[in-house]
Amino acid sequence: MSTNTNAKFILIVDDNSTNLSVLSEALSGAGFRFRVAMDGESALTLVERNHPELILLDVQMPGIDGFETCRRLKENPATKSIPIIFTTALADIESKAKGFALGAVDYIPKPFDQAEVIARVKVHLQLKHLTESLEEQVRDRTTALQKAQVQLVQQEKLSSLGEMIAGIGHELNNPINFIVSNIEPLQEHITGISEILHLYQQEYARPSPKLKDAIEDLDLEFVLKDMAKILESLTLGAEMIEKISTSLRTFSRSDSETKSLANLHECLDSTLMILQHRLKGQGDRPQIQVFRAYGSLPSVLCYPGQMNQVFMNILANAIDALDEAIVQGKMQERVPQIKITTKITSEERIVIQIADNGTGIPESIQERLFEPMFTTKPVSKGTGLGLAIAHQIVVEKHNGTLSINSQLGEGTVFVIEIPVENI
Ligand SMILES: Nc1ncnc2c1ncn2[C@@H]1O[C@H](COP(=O)(O)OP(=O)(O)OP(=O)(O)O)[C@@H](O)[C@H]1O
Ligand SMILES: [Mg+2]
Repeated sequence: MSTNTNAKFILIVDDNSTNLSVLSEALSGAGFRFRVAMDGESALTLVERNHPELILLDVQMPGIDGFETCRRLKENPATKSIPIIFTTALADIESKAKGFALGAVDYIPKPFDQAEVIARVKVHLQLKHLTESLEEQVRDRTTALQKAQVQLVQQEKLSSLGEMIAGIGHELNNPINFIVSNIEPLQEHITGISEILHLYQQEYARPSPKLKDAIEDLDLEFVLKDMAKILESLTLGAEMIEKISTSLRTFSRSDSETKSLANLHECLDSTLMILQHRLKGQGDRPQIQVFRAYGSLPSVLCYPGQMNQVFMNILANAIDALDEAIVQGKMQERVPQIKITTKITSEERIVIQIADNGTGIPESIQERLFEPMFTTKPVSKGTGLGLAIAHQIVVEKHNGTLSINSQLGEGTVFVIEIPVENI
């Protein structure tokens, strides 16, 4: 009998010593390791500690019989996949059928024919190994498929979002050019007309009563001064739209096959600009304050469009967490805020921290956040792909790391680290 408890073995369960010795002889003759149990209870205890590869189980035994032993083994998720072969003198159809119904894989009648025992044991061990390797393949394929799916969704999200935003940026460009390019001539015309009006007033110091009334009704002096102010605010507005248009185009830059040098602060700013509408206060909800503690960063060789996607996912999650904390009434004593810190380490690694003081994340789920499809949000709100995508982009495309530091009820910090040279 084997003394090595960790090695693979076959378990024989039988209360009859003659049967035991016949089976033992057959198995050891064929080079199998095995262990024995004389009743159902001790078989269950033994299996609990050490999983055999296969069990030869007698039906009729004192205490719990073979059927009950089989039922309990199949009920336990840890032992249910161990193949069980019943051994019994009962050749009647009913007990065979009962054994199979309970999940047995085969039946060996007594008295034993040693060659048959070995042949059946070999077939079932082989089947078990094949099943295990199939299961392993299915697991591997599922992981590969999930990964591919994340990539596809990421590309699709990027391209549809990118296209739309680039489109808007482009569409904004023409009208804003009309406004910007016409403001200056308009200003000149107005100045010219004002001068002429003043000249009229000097040359014709006594206007007719009709003209005098009209000038008073209009409050000409006020209108002339106000026009200058209106023009100033038009200029300011036009400049703001120009900035938005530039941000939209920075955000939606499509990535070519190779990496390009990018200013990550510009990427962060354009992403924040796109999320502006979600940061603003709405109704009872206060505005979310954004602090930028930007260090001095060199240009980084990266896929800027994809880095924008990372920032977008992490910032959108932070806003969701703040919204949630507000709904739960947990933000009464603090102002909702997001703080973005950037720096470069002495090892030439860029570190970007995005911190929020929202709900925080329970420790029990922190490990699962980067799993595709893991979400705590309602179906209509979250797909659970945001962080899986961000993780893939940072780790696989940029050779970096993405980690979390979170305290339930206090807030969360996401830390992105990528080497400056990450080719
Ligand atoms: N800043 C954060 N604060 C609290 N919980 C967070 C934060 N960021 C992520 N989480 C948790 O991680 C989960 C997974 O985030 P992930 O971005 O991958 O998916 P999602 O936001 O649920 O859906 P979507 O695919 O729309 O992004 C979230 O459902 C949330 O529970
Ligand atoms: Mg998300």
